Amino acid sequence: MPTVRAGFPAFPAPLDAGGTVPAVNPGRLDGKRTLITGAAGGIGRATAAAFAREGALVALVGLDERELSELRDELAAQTGRDARDFPVLPGDVSESDDVERYFAEAAERFGGLDVLFNNAGIEGLVQPIQDYDDGAFERVMRVNVRGAWLNLKRAIRAMIPSRGGSIVNTASGGALRGLPYMSAYVASKHAVLGMTRSAAVELGGSGIRVNAVCPGPVRTRMMESLAEQRAELKQTTVEESHRAFAAPIPMARYAEADEVAETVTFLASDAAAFVTGTAIPIDGGRSAV
Ligand SMILES: NC(=O)c1ccc[n+]([C@@H]2O[C@H](COP(=O)([O-])OP(=O)(O)OC[C@H]3O[C@@H](n4cnc5c(N)ncnc54)[C@H](O)[C@@H]3O)[C@@H](O)[C@H]2O)c1
Repeated sequence: MPTVRAGFPAFPAPLDAGGTVPAVNPGRLDGKRTLITGAAGGIGRATAAAFAREGALVALVGLDERELSELRDELAAQTGRDARDFPVLPGDVSESDDVERYFAEAAERFGGLDVLFNNAGIEGLVQPIQDYDDGAFERVMRVNVRGAWLNLKRAIRAMIPSRGGSIVNTASGGALRGLPYMSAYVASKHAVLGMTRSAAVELGGSGIRVNAVCPGPVRTRMMESLAEQRAELKQTTVEESHRAFAAPIPMARYAEADEVAETVTFLASDAAAFVTGTAIPIDGGRSAV
């Protein structure tokens, strides 16, 4: 009998006594207890599907209960699993009572938490700083900074008892450079990166890893809104705005949400066991320019 390393089939795959080929491809997140915020949005939905495919239990957090319930049913149908593996937990990430409630509910249903994908966010306005509305600035900060921080904090509390876990924060290419007319959003994503790095350093010895993904433009509702707003500001078309956003990207296109989900899945998994405090661009080469 050839020696077989776990997870690597000998070739040809040996048959066991019953004549069946042993399972060699367990899911990358088998049995992981995960929670995703902004789960029904473009990137959240793609990541929920990837996590479910890889065997995770996935708690779905967001503002719209109906959208989340539809997503739960889709995940159950796609994976052939019980809908109870994908609990719907409506809530606002920037309200501490909501955050407290949905983390407690997830812990009760799953018996603990291994992964947070801290992803909910809003784009705010496309406006020159001198014209940017104060209230809009505060809304962006409230959701993107306070929201990310409340969820980070609560996830760490949930993970301390099991001495391990992975938190992935959605930052942005806008966490790595300035962008015109998006001052509140860019400031908020620099803050997300700051809290990612601080948490990773603080939690180094705890077994809890904290990383950020920094996508460039991704083909979701958010880029549609940004292109529409830029078109209005610049008195141009939405199509020209999409072209302008894609122009500095060496690979000359937006990311698909699935491409972001792949990197998040890696960071969530044990394959990333020594990866913490990073900010991984998913940007078709933009950050290399
Ligand atoms: N689309 C891009 O080009 C891009 C690029 C870089 C980073 N991002 C970031 O990715 C994340 C996901 O964005 P997306 O592109 O999927 O956009 P999206 O608008 O499709 O999804 C965002 C989701 O967050 C939810 N949400 C908003 N405010 C919330 C709140 N207060 N509480 C709970 N949920 C809330 C929305 O309802 C929505 O489901 C955001 O943090 C965004 O800033 C997006």
